[in-house]
Amino acid sequence: MIAKRLKSKLQSGSMIRKMFEEGMRLKKLYGDENVFDFSIGNPDLDLPPDVADALVRIASDPTPATHGYMSNSGYLSTRTAVAERLSEQSGRTVAPESVVMTAGAAGALNVVLKTLLDPGDEVILLAPFFVEYLSYVDNHGGQSVVVQTDDAFMPDPEAIRQAITPRTKAIIINTPNNPSGAVYGPAELESLRSVLESADHPIYVISDEPYNEIVYDGVSVPSTLALFTHVIVCYSYSKSLSLAGERIGYIAVKDTADDYRDLMDGLVMANRILGFVNAPSLIQKTIEAAIRLNARVDVENYQARRDALHEILVKAGFDCPKPAGALYLFPRSPLADDRAFVDIAARYNILCAPGSAFGRPGHFRLAFCVGMPVIRGSANAFMALGKEMGLI
Ligand SMILES: Cc1ncc(COP(=O)(O)O)c(C=O)c1O
Repeated sequence: MIAKRLKSKLQSGSMIRKMFEEGMRLKKLYGDENVFDFSIGNPDLDLPPDVADALVRIASDPTPATHGYMSNSGYLSTRTAVAERLSEQSGRTVAPESVVMTAGAAGALNVVLKTLLDPGDEVILLAPFFVEYLSYVDNHGGQSVVVQTDDAFMPDPEAIRQAITPRTKAIIINTPNNPSGAVYGPAELESLRSVLESADHPIYVISDEPYNEIVYDGVSVPSTLALFTHVIVCYSYSKSLSLAGERIGYIAVKDTADDYRDLMDGLVMANRILGFVNAPSLIQKTIEAAIRLNARVDVENYQARRDALHEILVKAGFDCPKPAGALYLFPRSPLADDRAFVDIAARYNILCAPGSAFGRPGHFRLAFCVGMPVIRGSANAFMALGKEMGLI
């Protein structure tokens, strides 16, 4: 018999995955073009062509041990490229020794939480949040403490102040945010900093930043490394280079963070003993090339999809803020019961995820990293759904 804790997780399941599977079923029944599957954030753009070329070149590199183990923190040359990029972005020197290459942001977050948490330590999550945070905190014996953001999905400093206890070890922030698309500006981050610094012990800011480059209308994302003292950045190339299946990202720690030296040693050990050992070698080298090439996916393409889907939702009468970043719309659910609404949407072959799966009931999430034909094809279905809901 498998472990009881995992068994209970299997039973509660992932709502988003369920919608994804429902999508596969409906596509078989009605054909791909008649199912509007906005359920999952799987980046569908090609990786930039010069990065694809680098990948092929590195794969056939005859140098001995190109595909062997390296230091558990990753190749020094890759960490140097990452550190140089971070130094440019943050305006302060980041050393390669402050960087650990990881298996994506998911790997990074688990390594960080393994390193920080004693049993019962609390981690503040700002809702709505990437649902896996709950499992990641639980994986390492921590307790998640959920704090709602305000109506614009910005951090609520007073609510955070009230949630801080002597057991608060860390807060996870995610800007640009999945699922709300909110990007915290300098003023919001400054208020957050002042609340955290008024606590009577250091609180680590775990800044989960996979959407850092996925921003629209010229919005800029302030550097968390520049701003916070006890900050640990978790980054991923899944979205910025469309490499989600290849599992590559990094952790970067500011050298002013509490217990910096032990923290770095701990992260390297956690990367090893969680069984990652090291981030995949081929993709580390590819990332190094991508940084030198200044490569990123075609963000303008995502912006066009955001605009097209947003226009459809607004025409159909939905209350839908336009997200400043990331790959999701997060409209208000016309029904208080967002799960019931998602079931009704599925009757129109529209697949989406309920806000309650992200700790924010009363909303639903649409991932717009799907082809433009799916977005345009969904217009009539959204109009019909809007009518049924009495929105138009
Ligand atoms: C906010 C957030 N954090 C982390 C991840 C995990 O990303 P990765 O593929 O790098 O593990 C995702 C993936 O969608 C995400 O949206």
